[in-house]
Amino acid sequence: MHLQTFITFVGLLSPALAQRILPGAYIAEIKGTNSNAFLDKARSSGIRVRHRMALNQETSIFNGISFDLEDDTAENRAKIESWGEVVQLSPVRLYDAAAPVARRISRDTAAVISKRAAEGFETTTFPPHLQGGVHKLRSQGLTGTGIKIAVIDTGIDYTHPSLGGKFGPGNKVSFGTDLVGENYTGSNTPVPSDDPIDCAGHGTHVAGTIAAVDKDFTGVAPNVELGAYRVFGCPNGSAGSASNDVLISAFLQAQADGADLITASIGGPSGWTADPWAQVVQRIVEAGTPCSIAAGNEGSEGLFYASGAADAVGAIAVASINNINSPEVLTSAKYSSSKSVKEKTFGYTAATGTFGSETYEVYVPIVDGQISDGCSGLPEDATALGNKMVAIRRGTCTFDAKVQAAVARGAKNVIIVNNVPGTIQASVTVGNVNVGMVEPQTGAAWLDLVNAKETVSTTFDKTSPVFITAVENPITGGSLSIFTSWGPTNEMYQRPHIGAPGGNILSTYPVKFGGYAVLSGTSMATPFVAGVIGLYLENAKKLGRKVTPAELRVGLATTGKPLLFNDGAKNSTFLAPVAQQGGGLIDAFKFVNSKTIVDRDLLEFNDTQHFRKSLDFKLTNAGSETVSYKLTSFGGATAYALKEGSTLAQQFPPTLLESYSTVTIEPSTLEIKPGQSKRVVVRVTPPAGLDEARVPVYGGWINIAYANGEDQLRIPYMGVAAHMKKATVTNFEEGYPILMNVRNQTLSVNGTEVSRSAPPRFAWSLALGSGLVRIDVVSVSAPESNDVTVFDDKTVGSFPGYPNYWNPRNSANTRNTAVWNGRVVKKEGGAPVRVPAGNYKFVYRALKLTGRKHTGRDYERWESPSFHWSP
Ligand SMILES: *[C@@H]1O[C@H](CO)[C@@H](O)[C@H](O)[C@H]1NC(C)=O
Ligand SMILES: *[C@@H]1O[C@H](CO)[C@@H](O)[C@H](O)[C@H]1NC(C)=O
Ligand SMILES: *[C@@H]1O[C@H](CO)[C@@H](O)[C@H](O)[C@H]1NC(C)=O
Ligand SMILES: *[C@@H]1O[C@H](CO)[C@@H](O)[C@H](O)[C@H]1NC(C)=O
Ligand SMILES: *[C@@H]1O[C@H](CO)[C@@H](O)[C@H](O)[C@H]1NC(C)=O
Ligand SMILES: *[C@@H]1O[C@H](CO)[C@@H](O)[C@H](O)[C@H]1NC(C)=O
Repeated sequence: MHLQTFITFVGLLSPALAQRILPGAYIAEIKGTNSNAFLDKARSSGIRVRHRMALNQETSIFNGISFDLEDDTAENRAKIESWGEVVQLSPVRLYDAAAPVARRISRDTAAVISKRAAEGFETTTFPPHLQGGVHKLRSQGLTGTGIKIAVIDTGIDYTHPSLGGKFGPGNKVSFGTDLVGENYTGSNTPVPSDDPIDCAGHGTHVAGTIAAVDKDFTGVAPNVELGAYRVFGCPNGSAGSASNDVLISAFLQAQADGADLITASIGGPSGWTADPWAQVVQRIVEAGTPCSIAAGNEGSEGLFYASGAADAVGAIAVASINNINSPEVLTSAKYSSSKSVKEKTFGYTAATGTFGSETYEVYVPIVDGQISDGCSGLPEDATALGNKMVAIRRGTCTFDAKVQAAVARGAKNVIIVNNVPGTIQASVTVGNVNVGMVEPQTGAAWLDLVNAKETVSTTFDKTSPVFITAVENPITGGSLSIFTSWGPTNEMYQRPHIGAPGGNILSTYPVKFGGYAVLSGTSMATPFVAGVIGLYLENAKKLGRKVTPAELRVGLATTGKPLLFNDGAKNSTFLAPVAQQGGGLIDAFKFVNSKTIVDRDLLEFNDTQHFRKSLDFKLTNAGSETVSYKLTSFGGATAYALKEGSTLAQQFPPTLLESYSTVTIEPSTLEIKPGQSKRVVVRVTPPAGLDEARVPVYGGWINIAYANGEDQLRIPYMGVAAHMKKATVTNFEEGYPILMNVRNQTLSVNGTEVSRSAPPRFAWSLALGSGLVRIDVVSVSAPESNDVTVFDDKTVGSFPGYPNYWNPRNSANTRNTAVWNGRVVKKEGGAPVRVPAGNYKFVYRALKLTGRKHTGRDYERWESPSFHWSP
């Protein structure tokens, strides 16, 4: 089979919806563990529910059940909520495998995949390992032996020789389960099995980064045991979505199975800690099992776009940093020349068609001593090209124009010679022609041979193996990936904590897809951190030490290296904001070996209203000698969250300012005896001269060094230099909220006729997150029927299904809509009742950030024009 390499770009431009709720599906957290009793009660109350999942384990972290409500009415929900054993009823939400941002995948059933002997782990030269300091831990003898890491993902292709070949005890992938089945989309009913094989690819890539043992590379911790918890199917060959009841169930099972660490490269816009999945993560962490979670790939949305469940209290949120190299998966072919070269191997990336198993003479058009770029046609001597391979240099005009120039002279096979290091998959739409790309040095060698009057010929073999090579990435290599989602959360907590190589990462891929792929995303950075945690835990185990999740989170966030801002094209001269990078690039060696320890991962100074006048931390000397410390600080850029003169978020890159806080550290020099600790107090004065209306987010690092200058730790600090309760959360600027008719036409006058058959629709959109959005209904024609008080409004009740809690801000150009069916709910969780014909209006309220639920003035309020309702 011919090997085809393709690149697709997803994620950056696709608008992420604010909320993805599975209609009719709910999670009930219940007292006691008996979900059968819950189901019996539903049946005896005449409520038809279809059981989805039992969400409990002996560990009692969470007891609940998820179900589909066949008749999804507010009455039925209200009844269920009123049962004494129901603690909380929440809608089932959908999440995605944090989508790879750019994928370069080799697809070939004939690829040669080889593992290597499980030895020689004390060295690794894999570029991401050198970048993150893993090689130094390996040479310390750490490989992850005895540590179990649960991977919540698309499953793992354990048949891959580099991932052990088999599933079950005694193998690399030794535990786990399939919670959903291959046909699961996120919306249909999960069909569990006990085989967590991966049919989509994502989880196999993640697993390889943690623990592969391949001839070309190894995972970070090649001797850990992996648990595969499959929460995605592959409905159309790629991962669908996962619902949070499935995610909760997977996390609970992984914890009950004794995982030392649970890792998930999954997320979606949130920024609130109250989602049930985030709650379960928080409880699992509190019960002692650490969780590493991808920070999300929504960097394009700008600040205040933290992802769930990376935002869970206690989770470790991971940012991505670009590999210093761009690895490539190339197909091999050979070339020979009439005299000097015999069967020299070269690699190419196919663009379109297939070169089959053929030998072609290479035609190298030469213009001004260079291979022609084909942009003004081919030279006169370009004849009889039908059986030749035409080489054309990349640049000046489009790939199509070059290929067309060759086809115009009868060519059927074209090789584009790259003009920058490496290859890409050229985008070619010209038909009836086979096209591939070679690296510049291959083209240069051919040019030299032709200049030396030799004839060059290429030989392709459609069964030839892929091979892996790497070129330097001088543009963005080593810098922060622009796709990482930025913090802070809607509650002013910093996410991410730490970054790891996640951009352009080579790892294992399902055997049926060719065995290897180069992917990018915080999905790829998270397993790197998981592997490093595996090494840390192994080290602690050897020392007989018990480790808490907090120790890991603090250690990771404070041993990193802050990086310069990079806008995707070049480095700036200043450090990127803490809101984008947390602690910066992971330093695995320092994380495991630091003899200086603090007890805080982040110093979060909150907004100006809730400004923390001081924050403190405990500094411990875990070494064996008395040490003198010197504490200083340095700043990262300040970022404006909002566009100038606007209430809307600024898309990437936000406006950055080289404005820094003034930081006081007391004491700033101190001497600590071995095993002793001292308190340090930090005070911050935010940068001066900022435009508060644009919601500036400032930050930097407290630098802890030995008196001799040797760097130890850096604690990230950050805060918001605005009074957040004054920031506008509703997207009024683009005309929201909107009252619409059934055809989505805006109703801007009073008195429009609406009815059950042509109901009104309400659209709202958030410029910033809001913890509570409510819509209430006011009778205009019969004021005496307004018997429910909502702050200053007398209403007939609220829109069924509202209030809506814990709303992330909308991504650009998205909105939320709700249809009104003439019913209202008199109190939250109450049964909906019909209202009679008459004139009504809607009153919308959105709680401002940091606002209090019961304080009317903490809400934004808007009222709609009135309309006439006929049932
Ligand atoms: C998934 O769906 C396909 C097509 O309908 C079917 O052939 C296959 O058996 C299903 N797989 C499972 C595990 O149910
Ligand atoms: C698979 O793709 C087809 C065609 O694009 C689409 O109609 C179908 O809904 C998809 N199935 C699933 C389960 O996503
Ligand atoms: C950009 O900065 C990163 C880290 O801050 C560094 O690794 C990389 O080499 C820099 N790139 C260039 C082109 O200077
Ligand atoms: C900031 O203040 C708000 C309001 O008191 C609080 O809810 C939130 O937890 C605080 N955030 C942090 C990071 O302390
Ligand atoms: C109105 O908008 C909603 C969602 O925004 C959409 O589902 C619906 O199809 C639209 N209706 C019409 C008639 O365009
Ligand atoms: C609708 O009527 C109210 C109350 O009489 C009035 O305040 C408002 O301006 C009117 N709105 C429109 C769009 O005419």
